[in-house]
Formats: sequence, C-alpha cells, structure tokens
Amino acid sequence: MTPSDKPCRLVVCRGCCCGTRKKRPGVDHEGQLRRLSEVHDHKGRDIPVRVSECLDICFQANVVVVHPSSQGRARGGRPVWFGEMTEERLIEELDDWIFEGGPGVAPIPESLEIHVTSKDAKKPKKAKKAKKEKKAKKSAEAPAGPLPAKQRPAKKERKKKSKKA
Ligand code: FES
Repeated sequence: MTPSDKPCRLVVCRGCCCGTRKKRPGVDHEGQLRRLSEVHDHKGRDIPVRVSECLDICFQANVVVVHPSSQGRARGGRPVWFGEMTEERLIEELDDWIFEGGPGVAPIPESLEIHVTSKDAKKPKKAKKAKKEKKAKKSAEAPAGPLPAKQRPAKKERKKKSKKA
C-alpha cells in the first residue's frame, strides 16, 4: 500500500453519549464497534477504525465518520459524518458503501442519506409555535386575582385615582 493508496478510515465516537446505554438504550454498542472493525473494501483491505472522544454533536449519537480513501479524496471526496447510527441495518449499509469505495467513489446509499450530519450540526430547537401555545394555555389557566406587580399601575397613579373618586 503506497501512501497515495490508502483505504477509507472510520472514526467511531464513543464519548459521553455515543455508545452508551443511557443515551441509546437497546443498542449492542460493543457489537456495533466489533462489526465496524471488520469492515474491508473491495481490495480486501481492512478499514482502520479509530475510537474517538466526544465529537460535540451528542444529540446525534451514535456518530460515525467515514474518511475517504486516497482515491476518493483525489476525486473530491470528503469525510462524511453520520448520526443516529443505532440500527444494525445502517451498519450493514455503511459496510456496503465502503466496500464500493465510500466518499468520492460511490454515491451515498439512500438509506444513509438521512443520517448524514456534520460537525457543525445544531440541536433542533423546540418550535416557537409550541412555546407560544404553551404560554397562552398557561395564562388562560391562571387564577383570577390581583394583577402581577408588573401589570399593576404605579402607586402614584393609584393614589391619584383614589383622590379623584
Ligand atoms: S459522545 Fe459522540 S458526539 Fe458526543
């Protein structure tokens, strides 16, 4: 293997959330890592796997990054980040894709497309509409009584009103 003929590489996150039962229960995390360590390409080369610390997109656990082979990189392939890789079938798809060449060589399978993410992915915020509805519901449920301090007229104004009356 020449330096210009390197296979794809895998980075498998196993930080604070990825690979933990607390974050992703019901997943055989050890089995997944073992399975990823057995991946090889169509030339029969083992795909090196590096286990990494947290990659900072924990809401997408389990995160796996596929780095292109030398050939893939020469063709413009760049590392592809995948999130929520919790199902066995996804690992199988990933294996097949790498076998076919991975980034820059083979198109990403449709089933993996929706799992493509990036290191800059932002955790989705709760919809504003839902927040507004919650606030409206809360104020509708509020018991009738004295106005909250913020909504009450100032003390001076109250005195003026009472003198006029
Ligand atoms: S533990 Fe994997 S992204 Fe944080």
